Amino acid sequence: MEKIKILIADDVLDIIKVVKKTLSLEDETFEVVGEAANGQEVLDLIPKVKPDIVLMDINMPVLNGLEATEKVTKEYPDVAVIMMSVQGEAEYLKKAMFHGAKEFIIKPFNYDSLVETIKITHERHREMQKGLIPREEKDKEGKVMTYFSSKGGVGKSILSLNTAITMSQEKEQKELLMDLDLQFSDISILVNKYNERTILDLVDEGHLNTYQEIKPYLYAYNENLDMLFAPGKPEAAEYISKTSIEKIIKALKHKYDLIIVDTGINFNENTLYVLDHAEIIFFVSTMEIASLKNTKLGLKVMESLGYDNNKVKLLINRSTTKYGVSKRDVEEVFKDSIYAMIPDEEKTVSISVNRGEPFCGKGRLGKSKIEKAIEAMCTDILE
Ligand SMILES: Nc1ncnc2c1ncn2[C@@H]1O[C@H](COP(=O)(O)OP(=O)(O)OP(=O)(O)O)[C@@H](O)[C@H]1O
Ligand SMILES: [Mg+2]
Repeated sequence: MEKIKILIADDVLDIIKVVKKTLSLEDETFEVVGEAANGQEVLDLIPKVKPDIVLMDINMPVLNGLEATEKVTKEYPDVAVIMMSVQGEAEYLKKAMFHGAKEFIIKPFNYDSLVETIKITHERHREMQKGLIPREEKDKEGKVMTYFSSKGGVGKSILSLNTAITMSQEKEQKELLMDLDLQFSDISILVNKYNERTILDLVDEGHLNTYQEIKPYLYAYNENLDMLFAPGKPEAAEYISKTSIEKIIKALKHKYDLIIVDTGINFNENTLYVLDHAEIIFFVSTMEIASLKNTKLGLKVMESLGYDNNKVKLLINRSTTKYGVSKRDVEEVFKDSIYAMIPDEEKTVSISVNRGEPFCGKGRLGKSKIEKAIEAMCTDILE
């Protein structure tokens, strides 16, 4: 029979020792696969040690047991959490059960009750897993949405980031923002995160077959939005093949409602794969003549690739009259096929870029024009 794999989490080392000792008396049945001193360590360890059961203390520093339980239950539905608490934490315990804990035991516990509780919880949880899977854990059918342009520097990264943030707040849905500008890693810079892991680490270490494997490489920007950063090394692009991109997207598609992909100026097979598999392509252009010309050609390419008009949406970014080109002129060129115009707003954008703080999603009053335009566009997309 397979052993029941257990992860013990307590900030008091003595408790961990006692539990380990107790469980070692039944080493045919139990295997302690990890120890954690706080909730965050639990979350970090789960993908590595793949426990069946987490014995979780309620009060721990960094990330307490309650929050950790909620995250474990949501993200790793096949792991069952048993809370450990001292007498008198009844209110807490109720909450813990509400947050998804399967059982609880009161400290100090005796040998029999510990062993029995683990066995029964494990058994019950396995049976439940085989049958009914709770509704919220059902697979999602992630849509892919991407930003593309036939000229660089037109605002793909700024727009993909700020729309991702806006949508993650407008609608309770799980989103992933994937930076596929492998050479310049715009997104990590725009959110001021330089030292996080990137898609290069993920591909390098070969952990890209399941969501569970990929998860440690993602950066959680907010509760609904994760990010997969690009490495920002020009040579990295060579290591990341279309096959890897395909694996990553396939593994993540049913974990997210929306996967937003930022692309670079290279029209390579990675980009083509994403364009092919996207439900929506935002084709971004500015009002400069050179950009408009390139866009016209680019849209023809989209047509020859067989993408229909509903899939390709034209975004005119940095809308302004200062180039002597009016909105009307642009509309004439594209014959009413402009999806949205995003205003040119140098101050807001450059402060945001310099600070590494996206301008959307701050929830402040007196929103800038660019923020309002992005919000209106997101509302329309989400409808
Ligand atoms: N709406 C806007 N108003 C003012 N400035 C903008 C706006 N959009 C973009 N910019 C400016 O253009 C610069 C380039 O934007 P961004 O990095 O998003 O372009 P990109 O298309 O991702 O470029 P690349 O092709 O190099 O990846 C920004 O740093 C910002 O200074
Ligand atoms: Mg970019």
